[in-house]
Amino acid sequence: MNKEIVLSGIRPTGNLHLGNYFGAMKNFLRLQEEYKCFFFIADWHSLTTHPRPGDLSENVRKILVEYLACGLDTEKAAIYVQSDVKEVIELYLYLNMNAYLGELQRVTSFKEKARQQPDNINAGLLTYPTLMAADILIHRANKVPVGKDQEQNMEMTRKFARRFNTIYETDLFPEPESYTFPGETVKVPGLDGSGKMGKSEGNAIYLIDEPQDIRKKVMKAVTDSGPTVPNSDKPEVIENLFTILRAVSSQDTYTYFNDKYNACEIRYGDLKKQLAEDIIAFTSPIREKILDISANKDYMTKVAAEGAEKARESASATLKEVRKIIGFR
Ligand code: TRP
Repeated sequence: MNKEIVLSGIRPTGNLHLGNYFGAMKNFLRLQEEYKCFFFIADWHSLTTHPRPGDLSENVRKILVEYLACGLDTEKAAIYVQSDVKEVIELYLYLNMNAYLGELQRVTSFKEKARQQPDNINAGLLTYPTLMAADILIHRANKVPVGKDQEQNMEMTRKFARRFNTIYETDLFPEPESYTFPGETVKVPGLDGSGKMGKSEGNAIYLIDEPQDIRKKVMKAVTDSGPTVPNSDKPEVIENLFTILRAVSSQDTYTYFNDKYNACEIRYGDLKKQLAEDIIAFTSPIREKILDISANKDYMTKVAAEGAEKARESASATLKEVRKIIGFR
């Protein structure tokens, strides 16, 4: 077991799709075997855009269920809801005292959000990076698996950690590094040939999708008229289908269709039928677990309580140090 601490936060924005699974989730599953891990649902962060109260709790519950169904293990990792760990708010307050208006205003995602919601440029939005820094620093995490879009927030976190250490002449906070997923991470494309699979792109297959919906989505996938020259390069839309095939199907199936393609004998209808069935075979056990766990309210309550307890133990240890360092005695 590696001594370093890994932490990641997930904004509760909807159901998990295949892209999430083969991206972040597969890495989380590996990381929880190797490191002390904290995985949490960032529900406070979602308030920066003012979701409706009903959506907030429902989205948190949904994500928690799906994470457990994918195999995140409460025995191995602390899995918790951000708003259950009040220590984070106190650290957020302290960090805000040393965060400057100018630097917060220069953050690209703040500027973007301000443009998107001009009537709601709230202080929570402005201090999004200090809350994220508090999430990370409260556990003195070393590695944070995040996408490229979070790089600036990570730089801010490192800056706040350094600044705290400098101002108070301490080495309390390690500077957390962004953990970029290794090369073998599969980037699952969307089925419409428009690049990455994503919720906002509307091209996603969700883990919770019913088999008939998966079939419909896959059969609708964009293809072309087929190769005419043996062993030719695949155009993007076709390569995309093969990428998903490689992720969910057996090597034999992949090779079979790849050979057909190279021999100019491919029938996309057959490929799609097989792909749909293999996706269904892959997602069905997860979907069943999602339904089982969802139905078990007591289990959910217990998981959330246990996660919160583990997280608070670590958080309060840090906060105790922080208070002492700042001068609360
Ligand atoms: N900002 C992250 C996102 O939008 C979510 C997040 C909040 C987070 N706090 C975090 C990620 C701490 C990593 C660590 O995806």
